[in-house]
Amino acid sequence: MSCFLLDVTPLSSVPTARLDLRDVAKRFGPTTALDGVSLTVAPGEVHTLLGENGAGKSTLMHIAFGMLQPDRGSIVVDGVPRLITSPRMARDAGLGMVHQHFTTVPALTVAENLALAQGVAAGQWKRSPTFQDPLLGRLSDGLDPGAPVEQLSVGEKQRLEILKAVVQGQQMLLLDEPTAVLTPGETTDLLQWVQAFAAAGGSVVFITHKLAEARLVGDSVTVLRHGTVRLTGALGEFTTEALAQAMIGRASARTVAPKRPSARSDGDVVVRVRNLQLAARGQSTNPEGSGVSFDVRAGEIVGLVAIEGQGQRELLLAIAGVGSAAPGTVEVVGRAVLIPEDRTTEGIIGEFSLVENIALASDAAAPWVGRWGTLDWEALRQRTEMVVRTYGVQAPSTDMPVRSLSGGNQQKLVLGRALAANPSVVVAGNPTRGLDFQATTEMHQRLQETASSGVAVLVYSNDLDEVLALADRILVVSGGQVLIPDRADRDTIGQLMLAAERTP
Ligand SMILES: Nc1ncnc2c1ncn2[C@@H]1O[C@H](COP(=O)(O)OP(=O)(O)OP(=O)(O)O)[C@@H](O)[C@H]1O
Ligand SMILES: [Mg+2]
Repeated sequence: MSCFLLDVTPLSSVPTARLDLRDVAKRFGPTTALDGVSLTVAPGEVHTLLGENGAGKSTLMHIAFGMLQPDRGSIVVDGVPRLITSPRMARDAGLGMVHQHFTTVPALTVAENLALAQGVAAGQWKRSPTFQDPLLGRLSDGLDPGAPVEQLSVGEKQRLEILKAVVQGQQMLLLDEPTAVLTPGETTDLLQWVQAFAAAGGSVVFITHKLAEARLVGDSVTVLRHGTVRLTGALGEFTTEALAQAMIGRASARTVAPKRPSARSDGDVVVRVRNLQLAARGQSTNPEGSGVSFDVRAGEIVGLVAIEGQGQRELLLAIAGVGSAAPGTVEVVGRAVLIPEDRTTEGIIGEFSLVENIALASDAAAPWVGRWGTLDWEALRQRTEMVVRTYGVQAPSTDMPVRSLSGGNQQKLVLGRALAANPSVVVAGNPTRGLDFQATTEMHQRLQETASSGVAVLVYSNDLDEVLALADRILVVSGGQVLIPDRADRDTIGQLMLAAERTP
């Protein structure tokens, strides 16, 4: 596997800097996103920033990184107030950021994107890069420097975003949900790297919805709720319950959806896949080969797991009927809806309002589409309001552009739109990406209810624990084949996931 290099500041010589955000306030029309928030990150410290969807975490980071101007408050670096009104000024001040959504240029290659991040013109990039830092090397492992970014999986794109933020030799990193679509192994690598970066003197703000992960990586914590600081201090001083309580404003409810007592295995077959030729990365499909064959029944939840690029994406898209199909047959009884893996590029149009994005639903029986294709706006509004209410989307108005929703609230809209469309099959890729822990539990419950009502649900997730918690049975996609584990435990499944890598 290729490992590639850029000139990365060796970990032993990270320059140190102290970041102080003081009394920051920001309103968007009727919404108070931040109301007097202060946060200090000392050199050598990993400061975890927690809060529900819409609490104000990304807004605070956008202000620190010069993308938004605060209504009040200041950014102080090493005791000196700094005017930071653009990302360039933020970088000059020593800040690097990983955004909640991808910011790479899809048509450019991995190496070109990294060159751009370093301020080198993409065309002048001649060397084949390698990360000398071993942990960065692991994050870059398998990323082909010459591959266009549009061909990467979401996990790979996420790793590239992280590499992009750190290749600039910054001493303060703002990481906005960097692990949302990483596999457990990739997450472990990143957390180790973050700790090594801090141990060498770097300062890190780390946003996550996973409390266990916060505990692993963080020294200190700040919890935001409705734009104000509800708790701050050394992470070791607070129980997980106390953190959860500060986040949601009351004693925390259940954080794991109860497993469905018994899945139905007697439903009709609604998805029939026969001899589907899936191309794993680096392999071509074999037209003579047997391909993949399996059935999914109404009422069951089938979990799909795989390491990067094993053909899982083609499989999901083929079942959902999106794009040019892989050779073979896929029969779906009724209609399949897709919850895409990357909401920003495949799920929503950011400039469109909530109502307009609901109109994009692949709902054949859409009650708002008249016989001649005319739109019934009243019916469309009603559907939008139903989705917003049912799925707890926080939005002051359904006419505002979707890009001004927080990341988790965008995801809730995408999920609600799909499930409200009365599908017979739901195909979901990383469905709880960016949801806070309560919304994740609620979403798991909804997927289970959807299955119990007779819908076939296929869930693919980079998070094996999510699949283990949700699925009635698990299929492993490996080397373009589908393998059935004889036991649903982590070890057995993990072995199968790596099966194709081991065979020469
Ligand atoms: N450009 C904007 N226009 C209008 N409202 C905005 C804009 N940006 C953010 N908001 C609002 O500010 C509030 C805070 O949003 P923010 O994105 O900071 O939340 P967050 O804590 O990052 O949530 P998540 O966990 O879902 O990412 C939300 O109510 C959001 O709708
Ligand atoms: Mg956010």
